[in-house]
Amino acid sequence: MSILSFRGVSLRYPPNQGRTKTLAPLVLDRINLSLASGEFVVVIGRSGSGKTSLLNLATGFTAPTEGTITVDDLPVTGPGVDRAVVFQDDALYPWLNARDNIAFPLKLRHIATQQRRERADELLELVGLAGAGDRRIWELSGGMRQRVGIARALASSPRFLLLDEPLGALDALTRSRMQGFLLDVWKKSGAGALLITHSIEEALLLATRVIVLEADPGRLAADIHVDFASGLLAGESPGQIKSSPLYKSMHDGLTGLINRNAKEDAA
Ligand SMILES: Nc1ncnc2c1ncn2[C@@H]1O[C@H](COP(=O)(O)OP(=O)(O)OP(=O)(O)O)[C@@H](O)[C@H]1O
Ligand SMILES: [Mg+2]
Repeated sequence: MSILSFRGVSLRYPPNQGRTKTLAPLVLDRINLSLASGEFVVVIGRSGSGKTSLLNLATGFTAPTEGTITVDDLPVTGPGVDRAVVFQDDALYPWLNARDNIAFPLKLRHIATQQRRERADELLELVGLAGAGDRRIWELSGGMRQRVGIARALASSPRFLLLDEPLGALDALTRSRMQGFLLDVWKKSGAGALLITHSIEEALLLATRVIVLEADPGRLAADIHVDFASGLLAGESPGQIKSSPLYKSMHDGLTGLINRNAKEDAA
C-alpha cells in the first residue's frame, strides 16, 4: 500500500516581477491530508479555494512554501511516474493516434515497441475503446478523448491518479456514464485517486472521502467518509442512490457547508 501525504503544507505563489516587496497572498494554509491506495478522495470547494493548487503540489508541478509532500515518506520534488495526472481538457497529442497517445509514457521509458502496443491495446479495452487504437484524436468524441487521457494516465501503472475536473467539459449524460467508468477503472487499478470537482453529486457518487476546501486561504473545512460508490460499483443506478434519504441529507449538508463559507467571505 502507498500513501501520499501533505504535512503542514502552505502555499504562496511567488510575487509578480516588480512587486517583490508585497507578500503574495496565502493560497493554502497548513494542509494536513493523507491519501492511501484504494481510496477515492474528492476535493470540492468554490472557485479560487485552491483545489488546482493542491493538486499541482501533489503532481510536483509546484513546490510548497512550507511543509512537505511525500509518497511513502519520500519527498515529492517534481513530477513522477508514480503520480499520473488527467486535466479537464484532454491534452492529447493530435499528431498521434489513440494507441500511440496511450503508449507515449511507455515510449519515454524506452519500453519496446511490441510491449507498448500490447499494453496500449489492453488499456484501450479497459476503457471501452477496443478497436479504436488507430483512430486520430479528431475522430473521437469528447468522452472518448477523456477515456484515452485516462488510459494514458494508467499506462505507467501509477500509484496515484490525480484528476482535475476530468469530466467538467462533458454533457450531463456522458458525464454520468463516465463517472461509472472512472469508478470501475479506479477499482481495477488499485491506485489511490484524488479528484477535483465542482459537482456535489459527482463528489458523493465517486468518493470514499469528500474533502471540503474553504477559500482565502484554502483550509480543510471538512473530511467526510462516504460510501455510495460501492453501491454504484455493485450495479445500483445513480438515480436509485440519489433518491435515498442518506444521499439527500449528505447533499444538503455539503451544499450548506460550501455556501456557509461563501457567505462568511461576503460578510
Ligand atoms: N500560477 C499562479 N500564480 C499566482 N497565483 C495563482 C496561480 N495559480 C493560482 N493562483 C491563485 O491561487 C488561488 C487558488 O487558485 P486555484 O486555481 O488553485 O483555485 P481552484 O479552487 O482550482 O479554482 P477553480 O474552481 O476556479 O478551478 C486563486 O486566488 C488564484 O488566483
Ligand atoms: Mg481549478
